Amino acid sequence: MLEFVAGADLFSRRLSHDLSKKFFTNIYGQGKNPQKSSGYAPNPYFPAVFNTHNCIDKEMHGRKRRIVSQGFSPAAINASEPMILNHVNNLCEALLKTTKSGPLGGDGWSHPQDMASWTNYLTLDVISDLTYGQAFNLITKPNLRWLVNAIRSSTSKPSAWYNPDKWIFPEMADERKRFLEISTKYSEERMASQEKMSERNDIMSALLVARDPKIGIKLTEAEVWGEAYLKIAAGGDTTSTALASVLFYLSRSPIAYTRLSDEIRTIFPTIEAIHQGHLLNSCRYLRACLYEAMKLAPPAPGALWREVCSGGARIDTEQIPEGFDVGVCTFAICHNPERFLNKGTSPRITPGLRTPSDISAPTAFAPFLLGPRSCVTKPFTYLETSLALARLIYCLDFRAANAMGEGAPGSGVMGKERKEEFQIVDIFSSSKEGPVLEFKKR
Ligand code: HEM
Repeated sequence: MLEFVAGADLFSRRLSHDLSKKFFTNIYGQGKNPQKSSGYAPNPYFPAVFNTHNCIDKEMHGRKRRIVSQGFSPAAINASEPMILNHVNNLCEALLKTTKSGPLGGDGWSHPQDMASWTNYLTLDVISDLTYGQAFNLITKPNLRWLVNAIRSSTSKPSAWYNPDKWIFPEMADERKRFLEISTKYSEERMASQEKMSERNDIMSALLVARDPKIGIKLTEAEVWGEAYLKIAAGGDTTSTALASVLFYLSRSPIAYTRLSDEIRTIFPTIEAIHQGHLLNSCRYLRACLYEAMKLAPPAPGALWREVCSGGARIDTEQIPEGFDVGVCTFAICHNPERFLNKGTSPRITPGLRTPSDISAPTAFAPFLLGPRSCVTKPFTYLETSLALARLIYCLDFRAANAMGEGAPGSGVMGKERKEEFQIVDIFSSSKEGPVLEFKKR
């Protein structure tokens, strides 16, 4: 009997023999020749400022990364837990309110809820609070919810100096402008109240005071603003795709759903008991579900391009000359059937699964990438997604309300026909629709 199942992937079957571990590590691994492709160069909004993600020069990146990492140190992550829990509780309460368990009764199931939207509200509330010490409050108030699309427009921009989208997609350009205005406003407010803010554990506070431990230099104010903008752009759609994906697969997989809810509801005596610590660490199936959901729907699914530097690079058995761009599509490597336990069959979680490492060989799992340019926030992201999923499952039952998010058999669109697979669109991070779920108070 299967739990999570996604159909065998065309790309992965085509590329499986090419996606050797060497190929992947030769491009992205520590100390390798390629650098970020010139396509990453700063966008028109911060023309003079490189941030941790878009800077190409390795030395400049090392300096920024050493500083930015301090904002995601274990101590900083611990300190951010109450803030994450506050937003997770807001989400649970908002969904509880949709259930029909009031005096008028009903069967207790809510109206259908689009979890692509709710998960985006959660992750943007968390990342804005973490970055500025002030949340957008998208879960509790509707007035800034347009930011979800505006941020998406900003991250999926065509990258060119003449900014062609200004003429081709004027609405997108307008949304970006509004996002930039909000980001600027929050940064300004953050700077204006520096004393008060220094008591908070937000990223801007950390970045304003942090020094590169190697050369003792701080980031300039413009660099800190650029980093703040990046955090919002990088932290919304990615983490929400992970959550939407796990909810999609759980709502279509009764065995996985029962197993996970049994684990959460047995281990934790109360919802308040769900926080960092040995109880959460003992939820191995919870972690396994998150791994699998991110593998089946990697939040940054495309090829992350790198340029071969002077002297050329040996990529597995190929010698690639200087100046060429190379990359591995994350979706393809995550879906490579040869790297799943059930070799040669479709990717799946087996019922015998006990620990995350049982899912597959680790090289099949690279949604955060590897090497010096891998995601700087991995532990933070696991904490946020684990707390959100565990608290949701503790207080609510859920089921699929409709087919939103599924593939469409017979549509004739290559890669989009597998009904059982959560559909994501590569926009550098990923966009998605659904799953649409109904909730019931347990
Ligand atoms: C499930 C959630 C996430 C996934 C799967 C993910 C994945 C990734 C990937 C694949 C990269 C490499 C991108 C590239 O080479 O172009 C990356 C880099 C990065 N991510 Fe994430 N990310 C997630 C969440 C976040 C969050 C919440 C933040 C911010 C608070 C964030 C901030 C960054 C930054 C700053 C980098 C650049 C790192 C560097 O170049 O040194 N990510 N992420």
